[in-house]
Amino acid sequence: MKIGILGTGEVGNLLGSRLIENGHQVMMGGREANNQKGLDFVNKHSSENASYGTFAAASGFGEIIFNATNGRFALDALELANTDFAGKIIIDVANPFDFTTKPPTLIPELANTNSLGESIQHNFPNAKVVKTLNTLGMALAVNPKQLNNGDHSIFISGNDESAKTRTKTLLTEFGWKIENIIDIGDITGARAMEGFLILSVRLLMSFGLPMFNIKVLKS
Ligand SMILES: NC(=O)c1ccc[n+]([C@@H]2O[C@H](COP(=O)([O-])OP(=O)(O)OC[C@H]3O[C@@H](n4cnc5c(N)ncnc54)[C@H](OP(=O)(O)O)[C@@H]3O)[C@@H](O)[C@H]2O)c1
Repeated sequence: MKIGILGTGEVGNLLGSRLIENGHQVMMGGREANNQKGLDFVNKHSSENASYGTFAAASGFGEIIFNATNGRFALDALELANTDFAGKIIIDVANPFDFTTKPPTLIPELANTNSLGESIQHNFPNAKVVKTLNTLGMALAVNPKQLNNGDHSIFISGNDESAKTRTKTLLTEFGWKIENIIDIGDITGARAMEGFLILSVRLLMSFGLPMFNIKVLKS
């Protein structure tokens, strides 16, 4: 499948590399056409499977688009893509952190009664937005078997059932067990998934390493 990844940071790299490993073609996107991190990503992989372009180029390339941009600027980044993403799935993994506070907090306008995931769906009503993979370190998220033999929990939310089903397929390719992918409903579920980051940051401060996650148990 052709997948566009908006984001040239560590998260875009981890997602892109794992998707290529799983047989997909990936175009990474950034603001500029000659972003060094994007070009490094291409050099790391075969040119058949990896390419780099602007946010607009990567959005045009992908049937599925990952939003792996800085959460504070994610809505701006998606605007720069210059498309309404009609019919496309946007998998939003970003978190609307305010890093000016210590520890980081959520940007108030994008929290509690709102979320980044919902705001993306609101601004791009023709896209099918799915929130997932934002609640744990991305190195673990793209390769969950590194912890507890893959037996831990990941959440998903979004308004479109078929988009969530296609996203779950990508998650199972990463190594997630289908029974550990917890669907928490429509895109307003992004409030809870992004809100979880407040706890997650405290756990990271306690443990010092990002190789942890939670497992939801029920009877
Ligand atoms: N670290 C983790 O393990 C982890 C896990 C789950 C989720 N996340 C979330 O994943 C996202 C990506 O994280 P990251 O650390 O890889 O990257 P990042 O540094 O948060 O974001 C880098 C991307 O944001 C774009 N960007 C920055 N400022 C911008 C602006 N003013 N306007 C438009 N675009 C702008 C950059 O564009 P250019 O390429 O043009 O510079 C770049 O592509 C974040 O939202 C993060 O919270 C992280």
